[in-house]
Amino acid sequence: MNRVYFVGAGPGDPELLTLRGASLLQSCQAVFTFAPLDETFAGLIAKRPVFDPYDFDFDELLAHIETLLDAGNVVFLQPGDLTFFSPFQALIEALGDKAEVVPGVGTANAAAALLKRTLNLSGVCTRTILVSSRVLAEIPGAPALEDLAQPGATLLIYMNHYPLEELVGRLRRGYGRNEPIALAHRIGLPGQRLFVGCLDDILERTADCTLFDKRGRADLTLIIVGQALTATPDHSWWDQRRLRVRRHRC
Ligand SMILES: C[S@@+](CC[C@H](N)C(=O)[O-])C[C@H]1O[C@@H](n2cnc3c(N)ncnc32)[C@H](O)[C@@H]1O
Repeated sequence: MNRVYFVGAGPGDPELLTLRGASLLQSCQAVFTFAPLDETFAGLIAKRPVFDPYDFDFDELLAHIETLLDAGNVVFLQPGDLTFFSPFQALIEALGDKAEVVPGVGTANAAAALLKRTLNLSGVCTRTILVSSRVLAEIPGAPALEDLAQPGATLLIYMNHYPLEELVGRLRRGYGRNEPIALAHRIGLPGQRLFVGCLDDILERTADCTLFDKRGRADLTLIIVGQALTATPDHSWWDQRRLRVRRHRC
């Protein structure tokens, strides 16, 4: 049976695609994806037809996929990975057994690698919260961003929809203090930029660039906030852990 593979593309750099994802992409019949992945993956997609899923309404999309499946496998290249904020869940449900998911490098993983930081540093951060400011604001009764921005929490903010100045104000109210913040823009894509600072100086650090559109949206920016970004790891922790591991092995 031909299948529809929902392949985690990673942040955009084809070097971060899994080997399985690359092999499926190179053997499929047609590809669904959108900018900028259609450009960065052009080499692997080669001459296969590329469709933008947002050109179809839901029923049209299903019908189009069924036609393509008669000729071979179909690949949906999805940004990052299915795990967080995938737009394709309803489609996967509708396709049932015909759908298969291939994991990829999530944007959170790629951002942590760029920063060279683990985002839940032991002794500093007790929780890491992945959140979209836009989704939070859409749901009545959901906690406000300020409620989640608490000391000891690392926040990963996807799909920010606040102008940076407003976002910084909300985070300051939540954390109740100055806090480290990083903006990872277009990770793995042409124009990649990484800004690391604190709530007090991030506006100044980003003053010379256009990360945000007129409504404040920064579509390809992941925002990371919290002490885990800059805290000095406690080296004694390594020796304690080593002792525990060795004791366990004996
Ligand atoms: C619909 S969500 C998709 C998340 C994706 N499923 C993942 O695994 O990371 C889109 C958001 O992910 C983040 N994002 C996706 N690709 C990115 C990239 N290359 N660089 C920075 N942020 C990115 C941005 O916050 C963007 O608003």
